[in-house]
Amino acid sequence: MSARLTGANIAILATITMMLVAAAPSWAQSLPHFESRDGKHLFVVDGEPYLMLTAQANNSSNYPDMLDKVWPAVHDLGANTLQIPVAWEQVEPEEGRFDFSYLDTLIEEARENEIRLVLLWFATWKNTSPNYTPEWVKLDNERFPRLKKKDGTTSYALTPLSRETLEADKRAFVQMMEWLKRNDREQTVIMVQVQNEPGTYRSVRDYSDAAQAVFEDAVPQKLVDYLGVTTGTWPQVFGEDADEFFHAWHIASYIGEIAAAGRAVYDLPMYANAALKDPINDQGPESYASGGPTHNVIGIYKAAAPALDFVSPDIYMRDDVRYTAVLDHYARPDNPLFVSETGNAPDFARYFFDAFGRGAIGFAPFGTDYTGYANYPLGGKEVSPESLEPFAANYSLIAPFAGEWARLAFERQVWGAGRPDDNAPRVLDLGPWRATVEFDQWQFGEDAWWGDDVDGRDPAENAGILIADLGEDTYLVTGYDIRLRFEPAEALEGRGFLFASVEEVVWEDGEWRMIRRWNGDQTDYGLNFTDKRQILRVRLATYDEDIVDEGRAIAEEN
Ligand code: DGJ
Repeated sequence: MSARLTGANIAILATITMMLVAAAPSWAQSLPHFESRDGKHLFVVDGEPYLMLTAQANNSSNYPDMLDKVWPAVHDLGANTLQIPVAWEQVEPEEGRFDFSYLDTLIEEARENEIRLVLLWFATWKNTSPNYTPEWVKLDNERFPRLKKKDGTTSYALTPLSRETLEADKRAFVQMMEWLKRNDREQTVIMVQVQNEPGTYRSVRDYSDAAQAVFEDAVPQKLVDYLGVTTGTWPQVFGEDADEFFHAWHIASYIGEIAAAGRAVYDLPMYANAALKDPINDQGPESYASGGPTHNVIGIYKAAAPALDFVSPDIYMRDDVRYTAVLDHYARPDNPLFVSETGNAPDFARYFFDAFGRGAIGFAPFGTDYTGYANYPLGGKEVSPESLEPFAANYSLIAPFAGEWARLAFERQVWGAGRPDDNAPRVLDLGPWRATVEFDQWQFGEDAWWGDDVDGRDPAENAGILIADLGEDTYLVTGYDIRLRFEPAEALEGRGFLFASVEEVVWEDGEWRMIRRWNGDQTDYGLNFTDKRQILRVRLATYDEDIVDEGRAIAEEN
């Protein structure tokens, strides 16, 4: 017998539905968050995998009147996410008086532009300095002390050992998170960076008397347990690294406490970004931002600041050897890789392939707005639609299936390679297969056939490849200006190679649709990508090369 809906039934149903909705508001179920499994990471937004194709605005673009110079660049870049500062000095100009009107405008305009936001909390540390703290903080060094250098003089940087400074920063941060929770019901803000490039230049740690006493005390048990070392004072446990590790521990604990307090009211993902140390060569902490999340202290940040989902590199090194070494340092089973800043000069665009090929959750060229500021020679000489074009080309390659790429990086495996400085081929180990990526090739034939009789191909700076494993010897491949060849790896050694199929596909309505098969010239000389946006689904196969044609062998013997 079917149930009939009477007026009373409807009223009861409505009440139950309202109770359910009240008990579990939609935002609570689907807050942006990370999932990690088998050493891989997924960023989830609106309950779906999310890849951050990010633009980062300039440092002083955090005012309503600047935003109309920001959105056009974000759109020219084809970004889905904007990182933009929110400064302590702007939201709490007088102690205890909060003004979030900038965030009101920012969030409203972001929604209109269909762009998600990552807020950058510029407070106790902005490129290590306290310049973004309100005047009532930065001008009152009695109450908010700067650290002491080894020679007894005062550093420009605030000490992480001041409870007073920590509490004041935390109060403002928590106010902001509460405001977001109340006002950003659509979750336009999906993540928060806590501080910006913390650390201290020109002093490895705080050498004040108070700090010295803590330094000579025992290393906190939490860190001892995390690192599996034996207890003792900082110098006893860490020897010549003690000064830096001590500073890192206190800065990380400070940031971690602020992040935890913010998350307790509104649980958004949070992270801290790093001014880097040399990823390969030995470099002492007196020559970089000591105490920041440089690659050598990631473990200390993990132990001290579990409220941070990850620490991330700001990469302005132009050479591929150091750039990719940085990526390898930060892409860890316990740390999702996010290139939280990179140079906006066109030659940085190629690293998009290296980052996403390592399963990065996002990539962010810095200073992408049209306010007229360009941070050359660190980044590009200008910021214009033309200068952003290579970044935009890369974003447009992956944007149509960005969520699917994120899912593949998490559930299966991905690889990638951008053009290296030496232009030499790159070999990617796919397990049963090897993929070789070559640069500056014409689409037809082999170099050796033609000698010097043909025109050379103009090198394309922004060249690279992305590969994702789809299972059953099938790979998704896309890129620009490269030639890609596959061959069987050791496990299949001795067998001949062939493509079972090469299909050009487009992502439509949540699935791949084949638009044609590539064959003949299009596959005889590797898979040649040009500056066109093309995605291939490639199924690899082998045949047995050892089957001898008996008749022919006998004929040749005679
Ligand atoms: C790295 C910092 O994090 C950014 O805010 C900015 O200052 C750049 N350096 C330089 O433009």
